[in-house]
Amino acid sequence: MITVTVPATSANVGAGFDSLGLALSMHNAFTFEECDRIRISSVDGTHVPTGANNLVYRSARAVYDQLGIPLRGLRITQRNDIPMARGLGSSSACIVAGILGANALLGNKLTSRQMLTLATAIEGHPDNVAPAMLGGFVTSVYDEGQVYSVKKNIDEQLAFAAFVPDFRLLTSKARAALPDMVSHKDAVYNLSRAALATAAFCDGDYSLLGVATKDSLHQKYRLPLIDGGDEMFELAQDLGALAVYISGAGPTIMAVVPRDDQEFFARAQEALPQSEKLKHFTVYRLLPDNTGATVE
Ligand code: HSE
Repeated sequence: MITVTVPATSANVGAGFDSLGLALSMHNAFTFEECDRIRISSVDGTHVPTGANNLVYRSARAVYDQLGIPLRGLRITQRNDIPMARGLGSSSACIVAGILGANALLGNKLTSRQMLTLATAIEGHPDNVAPAMLGGFVTSVYDEGQVYSVKKNIDEQLAFAAFVPDFRLLTSKARAALPDMVSHKDAVYNLSRAALATAAFCDGDYSLLGVATKDSLHQKYRLPLIDGGDEMFELAQDLGALAVYISGAGPTIMAVVPRDDQEFFARAQEALPQSEKLKHFTVYRLLPDNTGATVE
């Protein structure tokens, strides 16, 4: 039996739309066994599709198809700690797990790069699947069907406060809210910040993150879809976050904080239930995952 563990991921990191992403200390775990039928179950009561449309199975199948190997079925179990449709990479975790699990069952015929390219083709963009697979802070470009990524470890002195609301937001809906065209000014606003955010993470200059994670391409269009989103930004900033951004397509709001700032979390936990606008959010204290997906 193969066991694959995959971290949660936080994509975009503000200005790096469809490019930047980082891996965090919350994990889904999957097991894979060869089987002559499709047998999929969830070990924690979370509802998951149990047929050929299951995303883990579909992703595993893509590996069999790429290698030209017939697939009759698989026995898959899923443990789902990453909340679904909250902007924390639960879909990417399924895709990466399916690909890594199938590749391990078939004797590791695909390279990491081939697997990352396949995962990106299934997901449509690399900013969640790359850190899910590699761990750390990952910058990626998807160019003519090829993924180009650089991974850097995230400083262990950082922590991440994930403010997760009690409702789901489908990525398809959050992407549909975006305009087809953006101005040259907005493009420059973001490309300069995405570059600065990358340099700031690499160099450890976290005083730059506040300005570097500001965005003009997606957050202003998505915030109206996130009940309490504006107030959540305000609270996290008031509590002294280094940076605040919408995690992936939302609805989770992510704050970057110094790891030793326990007071940030204590004050956030106290403040959320006291606010009518924010009481549907729960804060999770997450740490960097610099390992990425593991296969045993
Ligand atoms: N970059 C993606 C988006 C991440 O913002 O739509 C969510 O999959």
